[in-house]
Amino acid sequence: MTRADKIDFSAVRWGSVEWTNLGTLYLRACDSRSPRPILGDVAAADAVNRIDYDWARMHRAVPPGLNRWLVALRAVRLDTWSTGFLRDHPDAAVLHLGCGMDTRAFRLHPPHGVRWFDVDQPNVIELRRKLYDDHDGYRMIGSSVTDPDWLEEIPADRPALIIAEGLLMYLREPQVRTLLQRLTDRFTGGELLFDTLSPLGPRLSKIFRKGIVTWGVRDGRELESWNPRLRFLEGASALAGSERIPDTTPRLLCRLLCATPAGKYDVLNRFAF
Ligand SMILES: C[S@@+](CC[C@H](N)C(=O)[O-])C[C@H]1O[C@@H](n2cnc3c(N)ncnc32)[C@H](O)[C@@H]1O
Repeated sequence: MTRADKIDFSAVRWGSVEWTNLGTLYLRACDSRSPRPILGDVAAADAVNRIDYDWARMHRAVPPGLNRWLVALRAVRLDTWSTGFLRDHPDAAVLHLGCGMDTRAFRLHPPHGVRWFDVDQPNVIELRRKLYDDHDGYRMIGSSVTDPDWLEEIPADRPALIIAEGLLMYLREPQVRTLLQRLTDRFTGGELLFDTLSPLGPRLSKIFRKGIVTWGVRDGRELESWNPRLRFLEGASALAGSERIPDTTPRLLCRLLCATPAGKYDVLNRFAF
């Protein structure tokens, strides 16, 4: 593909949310291009190939060495949980909240009966639309998840798979509570998959990241007491599964970190409701 055929993303401001999403997309592409990928997100590699951006600068800003494996380990666990749900519920509605530029809707090859909704802030969805179109069974919705209206667009009569990767920590606790309540009120049943940071997350963020992380929880199970419909099924450190990392140094580093309190900092949670 020549540069002229590519989609111009040069307006994406360095350091913006959209830029962060491109960084994660780039890391998934790096995993996919490696000889022994963990996630194998071919759609991400294809997207990076189609986008005209300063990827060399991105490579320096988010060095793929360890980062690509961290991103892939987290995504692959959520993908595995998602695939299991979709196998049992091929007529599900999938709500992928804070989707960013993630290509989960394509890499999972959901069954034909699934209705998939990728939801993110309007500016992020506007950028996403430069790459992808809505098609049968797939729609993008540009809205804050804290806005009550967007949920009306989702059919309520299907089992719901709700995935929120890298989202809830950017909301405030009352917003998380309200969102979870709205979701469980809207659907008769399903699963909720999301990651949580420990309460250290917001504290560290005040020092290092201008306070953009605003919610943390010691143990995801606490959410059962917020909402009686939520049933905790399982949780795993975002660093778990490091034995799959093909390179020795990052594999050992991950294993070591997983055995320390750092292993409890970022946790993937699976709930039924
Ligand atoms: C760290 S990124 C994660 C993106 C994607 N899930 C991934 O793993 O690549 C966080 C995403 O959440 C989105 N986000 C943050 N607050 C949101 C809100 N209130 N409503 C919808 N999306 C939100 C951001 O726009 C951003 O795309």
